[in-house]
Amino acid sequence: AAPDAYKYIEVSEPRPGVGQVTLSRPKALNALSGPLITELNTALASLSASPTIGAVVLTGSSKAFAAGADIKEMASLTFSEAYTTSFIESWSNLTTTVKKPILAAVSGYALGGGCELALMCDLIYCTSDAKFGQPEIKLGTIPGAGGSQRLTRAVGKSKAMELILTGKFFSGEEAEKWGVAARTFATHEELMAGVLETAETIASYSKVAVMAAKEVVNKSQDLPLRDGVEYERRVFHALFGSQDQKIGMKAFAEKSKAEWSHK
Ligand code: CAA
Repeated sequence: AAPDAYKYIEVSEPRPGVGQVTLSRPKALNALSGPLITELNTALASLSASPTIGAVVLTGSSKAFAAGADIKEMASLTFSEAYTTSFIESWSNLTTTVKKPILAAVSGYALGGGCELALMCDLIYCTSDAKFGQPEIKLGTIPGAGGSQRLTRAVGKSKAMELILTGKFFSGEEAEKWGVAARTFATHEELMAGVLETAETIASYSKVAVMAAKEVVNKSQDLPLRDGVEYERRVFHALFGSQDQKIGMKAFAEKSKAEWSHK
């Protein structure tokens, strides 16, 4: 879709090879309504298919990454409607269909579905005062977009229990300390500069190798160690069949810069 086709997000290419999706529903603190998620999936599918894009940054505003699923939209949903329409299932398109790395840049609120959306991304950078949390318990419900699983894998069972049972927010600084976020920044501007720099670095490498690296790291979340190590080795062996492995190792030996074929 053309960039101006979107109502709730903005899509840009701020650096060579880097696609940026900015959630933009400011009046609702970027609450993740059905139409917003549809646009997000469309934009990500198109960035995923673009031969020039090597990495994607997903961000919101300085006030909110996203304040959760849209509570007003959900309030009157019945069990039958949720079940038969597979409510929220389409959110996982993000992790299952996009092979390129997605970097979340979180400022302000990342609550409920917003926290889960960030956790679905491949890595999180945030401001030190970002406000993460799974406050669903206060609404009489529980996380529904993977929070109880991904947050638990990130911070361990005891802390995840505490966060999910109390609904208490945690800061960007804590997110980094606990391994939820890879890095924190003092301001939204510094965060965006930092995330774009990392995304540009990733986009400068062989796309085949980058996608394989993302795939094997994510497998570590699903597989037991022995199976994960074996999976990694298979993919590692497979990469000897890529042109870029030959290009990369030859360039090292010749002390020249690798010109990737992305094949
Ligand atoms: N859904 C719908 N609208 C939301 C929203 C949400 N998740 N979060 C904020 N908004 C709306 C508010 O209703 C308000 O709209 P109006 O001006 O029309 O009243 C507007 O955004 C601004 O919000 P506030 O006035 O509340 O702003 P604040 O600065 O006083 O508070 C906040 C900010 C602490 C983030 C507060 O808005 C809040 O608690 N939001 C809800 C957070 C939450 O519970 N998220 C979890 C949702 S459930 C979920 O996500 C399920 C899942 O696992 C998938």
